[in-house]
Amino acid sequence: MLVALSAGGCTGRRDESAPEGFRPGAPGIGDPYFPTYGNGGYDVASYRLQVRYDPATDELTGDASIEATATQDLSRFNLDLAGLTVSSVQVDGTDAAHARTGNELVITPATGLGRGDRFGVRVRYSGKPVPITNAELGSGGLLHTSDGAIALGQPESASTWFPVNDHPLDKATYQVEATVPEGLAALSNGVPGGSSTDAGWTTWRWAERAPMASYLVTLVIGSYRVSTGTHAGKPLVTAIAADLPAGGPAERSLARTGEIADFLATRFGPYPFDAYGGIALADSRIGYALETQSRPVYGPAFFTEGPNLEVVVHELAHQWFGDSVSIERWSDLWLNEGFASYAEWLWTEHDGGPSAQARFEQEYARTDWAEPALDPGPSEIFSRAVYQRGALAVHALRRTVGDESFFRILRSWAAEKRDGNATTDELVAHAERVAGRQLRPLFDAWLSGTTAPPLP
Ligand code: TRP
Ligand code: ZN
Repeated sequence: MLVALSAGGCTGRRDESAPEGFRPGAPGIGDPYFPTYGNGGYDVASYRLQVRYDPATDELTGDASIEATATQDLSRFNLDLAGLTVSSVQVDGTDAAHARTGNELVITPATGLGRGDRFGVRVRYSGKPVPITNAELGSGGLLHTSDGAIALGQPESASTWFPVNDHPLDKATYQVEATVPEGLAALSNGVPGGSSTDAGWTTWRWAERAPMASYLVTLVIGSYRVSTGTHAGKPLVTAIAADLPAGGPAERSLARTGEIADFLATRFGPYPFDAYGGIALADSRIGYALETQSRPVYGPAFFTEGPNLEVVVHELAHQWFGDSVSIERWSDLWLNEGFASYAEWLWTEHDGGPSAQARFEQEYARTDWAEPALDPGPSEIFSRAVYQRGALAVHALRRTVGDESFFRILRSWAAEKRDGNATTDELVAHAERVAGRQLRPLFDAWLSGTTAPPLP
């Protein structure tokens, strides 16, 4: 859509209340795959989300406090919000005008916000959350379950339960305070801040202090067996749906979280976050696992045939590749999925299974080279090529530069881009710098070439 692609800074009409030269922020952050995702004109530093959810009525009441900095002279700006009803918006404590168009909340502050100004937005809202349906990519958002709710999804989920700059390019810290009927758990990302009960409602507090992409925020409410411990001096919280068998495959798999994270740290460098954990779901409508920051969420299908460590390895590898080092645009998703898939090969080899080389040869033989891993098109971001050709490209790099350079490239990449965003071009440049040789043709052939590259 033209309106979404255009920079609001050039096309918007001036609002009366803002000084000359102040313009609306763009309604999208500028991702060619998803032009309406995120917004322009500001950068969020932190979200504080206070939400109350009643599973009996599916009613959510929210109070979101957002700290941001204007990146242009702003007359107004958007947040992404799908469904729900906004009752009030304040900017820096003063009531602001607000309107809804599609999944956008348009906020016009009483006075303009100058470029570089730090400002606070408070949004009070309520309603029954409705997931975003996407026929090609699967739906995302807050899903009502038999005993609670699950907020999960990629590339979109957050805007169904809070107002957000919904794109991985604008990472921010999060405090989540979720109030649920006494007896239910409410799990989210990061370090647990304890819970307190008042008049039949329990508030669970969570803090993710490292910048987090919005699709990595989760909220899981329901009957769970929650275990809180520590690993390597950091909190480790795992939650197993009460409907899953005690001591069953999901529980036994998630119990390996600390050990698997430690293994990955030997390959990728120090674990990047302040907390560990995992959440195992019983609701079979969730057919995926997702690398929600510091605490991945696992659908039940992974554990129907016994323990599954590969999925735990995959989601934990994303903590380095995807969560700490995040994509700048969705066409680069292989940067997440290629490395997470490759981590499975490393684990299998370490665990006494087939070698990474054997997995590489097997995948190589079954690859359809017509499908690119890089820039696969918006409907193909979760395609087999993104995952498996991505992993092949990583192993091809290893074979080409040798183990010593390869693991140096991985570790220094994770360290230098920690808590940030990155692109494929930056990875190629980084690998070339560390290895001291030209690698662009290698990456091009393995990620985008239309014929099988020669085996390195
Ligand atoms: N990124 C997830 C993984 O690789 C998989 C995934 C794709 C997903 N689309 C999703 C998970 C939607 C949850 C919802 O582990
Ligand atoms: Zn993945």
